[in-house]
Amino acid sequence: MDKIIVLDFGGQYTHLIARRVRDLGVYSEILPHDIKINKIKEKNPNGIILSGGPNSVYDKNSPQVSEGFFDYILKEKIPVLGICYGFHLIIHEFGGKIESKRFKEYGLSDLNIPNASDLLDGFERKEPVWMSHGDQVVQMPKDFEKLAFTDTCPIAAYKNINNLLYGVQFHPEVKHTPKGDILLNNFLSNIVNAKKEWKLENWIDQEIVNIRKQVGINEKVILGLSGGVDSSVAAILLHKAIGERLHCIFVNNGLLRKNEEFEVQQTFKEKLGFKNFHYIDAEQNFLDKLENVEDPEEKRKIIGHEFIKVFEKKSIKLEKEYPNIEYLAQGTIYPDRIETAATSKSAAKIKSHHNLTLPDDMTLKVIEPLSDLYKDEVRRIGLNLGLPKGIINRHPFPGPGLAVRIIGSITKERLEILRNADTILIEEIKKAGIYDNLWQAFCVFLPLKTVGIMGDFRTYEYLCAIRIVESLDAMTANFAKIDWKLLEKISSRIINEVKGINRVVYDISNKPPSTIEFE
Ligand code: XMP
Repeated sequence: MDKIIVLDFGGQYTHLIARRVRDLGVYSEILPHDIKINKIKEKNPNGIILSGGPNSVYDKNSPQVSEGFFDYILKEKIPVLGICYGFHLIIHEFGGKIESKRFKEYGLSDLNIPNASDLLDGFERKEPVWMSHGDQVVQMPKDFEKLAFTDTCPIAAYKNINNLLYGVQFHPEVKHTPKGDILLNNFLSNIVNAKKEWKLENWIDQEIVNIRKQVGINEKVILGLSGGVDSSVAAILLHKAIGERLHCIFVNNGLLRKNEEFEVQQTFKEKLGFKNFHYIDAEQNFLDKLENVEDPEEKRKIIGHEFIKVFEKKSIKLEKEYPNIEYLAQGTIYPDRIETAATSKSAAKIKSHHNLTLPDDMTLKVIEPLSDLYKDEVRRIGLNLGLPKGIINRHPFPGPGLAVRIIGSITKERLEILRNADTILIEEIKKAGIYDNLWQAFCVFLPLKTVGIMGDFRTYEYLCAIRIVESLDAMTANFAKIDWKLLEKISSRIINEVKGINRVVYDISNKPPSTIEFE
């Protein structure tokens, strides 16, 4: 399949570049900027995009491409498009000049396009574009041609006469650049001549063949199924590929939402006909281990360890019962891989998100059929394979479950209160028809008692917080400005119907600086 590689120079929009290229029908992958040249050669890309980034090319430790990169692309005639920092990097490499502006240019600018070109095909003489830069090119190297400029930026797009090196100062990957998709499509179609083969239906057929080939004809696979979108889609895809040779393990850790353990079993066992679906009720193990634990990270650690213990015990049992269990499947998706790679470089650990850390001595081989896909692609595949909409569109739910939504220690009583409140919230949000527009909506139990009055009685009960956020990728999120009347209804119902709560508050914090979850 034809392929575009996006080299990541640390820009905030790198992900979007890869996304847009895929949306335009060409497979794309993000790699670190300094990846060794032979790794790039192995990938055999048809075109390369150099992303933006926060640095200046003259900085002492500015990120560079690895040695031999430009020789390789010139020799193999692989077109390159530099965006923002990538735009500067090409100019710097070929001997042009870049200057720092006194003020950063940020926002919409009018791009002037004096002449037609393959890159800007379909652009009028003036087009709005989104700028975000501190440096700019002031002198071009030999054999480069200026394609566009703005009032403050003398060179805003260029190409080299060899038709291989292109660059833009602005960001075509963001929606604020209305013709950004046209520009990227021009790069893919007019310059790279990439075949548009990235279609999910083809991907599904191909992946089923790959899984069959990888797993073999007798071997079996174990999958930890949480009931979330990713593991559910991985399950249905594997089931399609290898049928009953897939063994799913579903652990009830006692921290799930109301009725979740029944719903997941019903979906997979009854609706989808999974025969080897193994349900483990480990509620008591988890609750015992979590008794009196208040620290959020400690909770996560305990839950992670306990999960592995329970999961391992079951897999060892299954391995004895069913010969040839050779693989462990995981629902890892593309952003998980990128995030993990990125966080290993940055020092600050914000939360230990990733739940399933595999034991070192594990002998099963890992299979991750969704590891090249974005979330919406995963959802579309799930739909295509017949997974119920309820699972596909379900809001994300953290691995440690309600444990991170009960502040302080976890008890059965608190879990019960939280489940009841949360059920009402979700019911009302769905009834109002806004569930699918929200990233997440959930209740949080706060171990704080306040005074209230119910009928003629003074009450002294717990506090419930409602968290509803809108987000695209959970990296940033805004609290949802939902209708007051709806909030009022939710609050009255929770206070009236949930024993143990007499006050409801709405969280109006954005991320950053707050996080989506409370712990
Ligand atoms: P925060 O709270 O960091 O959450 O803004 C971002 C997204 O990640 C989810 N989340 C988790 N998911 N294990 C998970 O699998 C965790 O420990 C965890 N903590 C937060 C959260 O629900 C949100 O979607």
